[in-house]
Amino acid sequence: MNTINLPEKGQEATHHVRYTDLHCHILPGMDDGAADWDDAIAMAKNAVRSGAVRLVATPHVMRGVYSASPEDIKAKVAELNVRLQDSGVSLEVVPGSEIYLVSGTAREYRAGKLQAIGRSGYLLVELPALRLPDYARREIDRLLAAGAGVILAHPERNRDLCSSRDMLFELRESGVLFQVNAGSLIGVFGHEARDCAESLVKEGMAHFIGSDAHSGRPAAVTEVGADISAALRQVIRLSPSGPGFAALTEARVSRLLAGKL
Ligand SMILES: [Fe+2]
Repeated sequence: MNTINLPEKGQEATHHVRYTDLHCHILPGMDDGAADWDDAIAMAKNAVRSGAVRLVATPHVMRGVYSASPEDIKAKVAELNVRLQDSGVSLEVVPGSEIYLVSGTAREYRAGKLQAIGRSGYLLVELPALRLPDYARREIDRLLAAGAGVILAHPERNRDLCSSRDMLFELRESGVLFQVNAGSLIGVFGHEARDCAESLVKEGMAHFIGSDAHSGRPAAVTEVGADISAALRQVIRLSPSGPGFAALTEARVSRLLAGKL
């Protein structure tokens, strides 16, 4: 049950939102995320502190750099879930990955080499930080044609996409969904990313929220860590009962994981 307490006059908003962190580098030894199991547990505790009940482990999959296989990801997630239970941390971790889009990503999907978010059939897809490469649209269309669902990771951090919002609407029209980073909403990636993220929330185009956390240590300037309370409050401020709020709720993620989105 989601509960929201809107601020009385002169009071800060408080919230208690049960949410799923759709984007988190919590698995140790797979990418530049958690340093070890202790770090992973610390990240999980941070996530729970801000209301996460579920978290999708999304190690980088990047040609020539990181190559987490579905088997390795699922094995590590299973181990993490056992360790969380043993540590008394109430958080369900679901396998996923963050797939850097290259020409050929759709072929790898068809070959069963990419880990979707749980059994949803949706892939979390990353674009280069600033540009929209020529192949991007074509490759996304190929993924969709192959039957994959596509969730674009932090589109607000892509300068081309945010400056040409037509492309964002076109992608949405073709069925692509968007995951906004908590850090973008509170300005850690600069004002352009923040403005774009806020617009997405207000327009109901921020379909999911993710921490994109890489560590349980105190957050660096460019990282909010897995405790995303400040970003949640910002979403509630921007869209207290409107479509933006749906990005935080468990209902949408539950439908996603059940393949009923
Ligand atoms: Fe990421």
